[in-house]
Amino acid sequence: MSIFRKKSIEDLLQNAGSDNQGLKRELGAWDLTMLGIGAIIGTGIFVLTGTGAVNAGPALSLSFVIAGLACLFAALSYAEFASSVPVSGSTYTYAYATLGEFTAWIIGWDLILEYLLAVSAVSAGWSGYFQSFLNGIGIDLPVVLTAAPGSVEGVLTYMNLPAYLVVMAITLLISRGTKETKRVNNIMVTIKVAVVVLFIIASVFYVKPENWQPFMPFGISGVFSTAALMFFAFIGFDAVASAAEETRNPGRNLPRGIIGSLIICVVLYMVVSLIMTGVVPYSHFGTALDHPVSLVLQVAGQHWIAGIIDVGAFVGMTTVILVMLFGQSRIMFAMSRDGLMPKSLSKLHNKYKTPYAVTWMFGFVAALLGTFVPLGDLAELVNIGTLTAFTMISLAVIVLRKTKPDMKRAFYCPMVPVVPGLAIVFCVFLMFQLGSHTWIRFLIWMAIGIIVYFAYSRKHSHLHQKE
Ligand code: ALA
Repeated sequence: MSIFRKKSIEDLLQNAGSDNQGLKRELGAWDLTMLGIGAIIGTGIFVLTGTGAVNAGPALSLSFVIAGLACLFAALSYAEFASSVPVSGSTYTYAYATLGEFTAWIIGWDLILEYLLAVSAVSAGWSGYFQSFLNGIGIDLPVVLTAAPGSVEGVLTYMNLPAYLVVMAITLLISRGTKETKRVNNIMVTIKVAVVVLFIIASVFYVKPENWQPFMPFGISGVFSTAALMFFAFIGFDAVASAAEETRNPGRNLPRGIIGSLIICVVLYMVVSLIMTGVVPYSHFGTALDHPVSLVLQVAGQHWIAGIIDVGAFVGMTTVILVMLFGQSRIMFAMSRDGLMPKSLSKLHNKYKTPYAVTWMFGFVAALLGTFVPLGDLAELVNIGTLTAFTMISLAVIVLRKTKPDMKRAFYCPMVPVVPGLAIVFCVFLMFQLGSHTWIRFLIWMAIGIIVYFAYSRKHSHLHQKE
């Protein structure tokens, strides 16, 4: 029973058409860029920038550059990996075809952590803006229902009710087969980008350069630890790769979509964070950690624009929850179809033809986590899981250039092994900036994964049954 057994690339490519009945190759580089931005812009910029400003000061923009560079290097490896096996699924499937079952399992298990907890984290961020919007129209929820226990210092809270409700509503949509279509996604993304641009235009005139002094009040260590948190803001560009089968000329357009969406976000994030810390002294963000972007406009006296930003932010964050939950159910579905997870999880609903068991199971767990666990804890766990996946993928690119030099790749990562090497260095460095409690939780999660693999998945794997 080899833990390195592999799926055949030829089979995967051949099955690709039958798995995705009727999907047309109609996405171009621009659509993919929009898809990427749709999955990227969310809680990171709208919420975590508050904590980032408190911990890094105006140098928050530098933290964005560091986290963005880690993502750019990893994205180039990601694009090579994705374009070598351009079938739907994700890195889990690519790894299964190239590196073997155990590595694929580890990546799949890791991605569950990324996607599941990202849904919870973004739901908590969504809730902050939703409540800020409700306050604006004179509705206040009972304080105990507004946040996870222990997330607001000195305030007694039991649960984050809006976070719970939004995840359950989106779970219902996804389980009914409501697919985010190109058009709906493009509209949502346009709203999101419009809100960010509106923010920039409306607040840039209120910047007081003296607020940027001192630029780095907590030294370079504050910048680095904040970069590890702000990495969350870039997560999502990997979702672009999941559209491989619907993409025209994937070898050219996939990398353009992945890298294009990342570069646009790096620039937007730098500008937004400089303006935020230029308008409001960084230490003041502690008073509105759940809606720092609209706080800036409130301070500037632009209350009605702050209201528009509240609405745009929570509408925009809804797509992140949707894409992540959708991606989560897809990965689990693939793992179950391969026999690594119980078969019942890939059962399709008779009428809606969606993997409803796995969608509901994860929707419910994600909703509970978003309801009861503070956002910062969730985001750090998402980051460590994703950084691990990026490290493994970058390593895989270096290994595969040696072991399968002749494999056809539609896109070649430049300067291998330097670029994937830089991705590994940046990702591992950021991982070590995360707290010990995050590491302990992460290692427990991975240990459980390894036990499940050896106790169940290895024996039930379809590849094993063929052996
Ligand atoms: N990048 C996504 C966000 O910030 C996960 O919400």
